[in-house]
Amino acid sequence: MDELSEVRDNRMESIKDVVLSEDFVELVKRNKEMYDKLICYYKCAIMEIETKFRVLNEEFSLQYDRNPIETIKTRIKSTESLFRKIKKKHIPLSLEAIEEQITDIAGVRVICSFPKDIYHIAECFLRQDDITLIQKKDYIQNPKENGYRSLHLIVEVPIFLQNEKKNIRVEVQLRTIAMDFWASLEHKLRYKKDLPEEQIQEIGAELEECARISAMLDSRMQSIKDRIH
Ligand code: GTP
Ligand code: MG
Repeated sequence: MDELSEVRDNRMESIKDVVLSEDFVELVKRNKEMYDKLICYYKCAIMEIETKFRVLNEEFSLQYDRNPIETIKTRIKSTESLFRKIKKKHIPLSLEAIEEQITDIAGVRVICSFPKDIYHIAECFLRQDDITLIQKKDYIQNPKENGYRSLHLIVEVPIFLQNEKKNIRVEVQLRTIAMDFWASLEHKLRYKKDLPEEQIQEIGAELEECARISAMLDSRMQSIKDRIH
């Protein structure tokens, strides 16, 4: 890309940002109450899901004297990124449409010790009768082309409000420490895209190699554990 078109692109990006955020401020002003309510539902759903994993971890540690879950991280999609997705996917600005079509407003990431723990914990979680599985993507059995691994579940969980019960969608990502290590660093490295194509290819290949090594580490640690127990 020549310097001039790069400047032009950068300017377009900043103009887009301003337009996006002004639109957004307007939307939030008009629909503040609706928006606050929506976010509140998702916060409650996260609490429900997090508690479920904490309970499983507690019971498991009583039974087997170890914790299969290392950490649980939760997040609500930022307002900016939510609005970007609404725009990108041409989703109508209604509560129903957003709730139905954006399934990652509430995110729960469960970091497990060993690969087998992921499947065991996921199975126990999905067996619970108030959890409805909407979608499952197994990027451990089938890693992404770049090497990304994790088990993704989109589930629906009921939350009980004063006068109603609402089913809320939550994205759950289950990973080992090694998978999380790779994904976190890869995510940080992804911001810099203004490199020559050749270098991008090289880095991609190297990241994929790192993912392969991390998968090998997981399987070796798992087999050590299997030998001990
Ligand atoms: P989104 O529209 O971005 O949510 O993608 P999707 O609907 O195809 O969902 P997918 O299950 O593939 O990925 C959703 C989430 O998984 C992302 O928001 C990330 O948190 C994580 N993820 C997926 N792919 C990658 C990847 O290649 N690298 C990293 N670091 N994280 C990833
Ligand atoms: Mg996402």
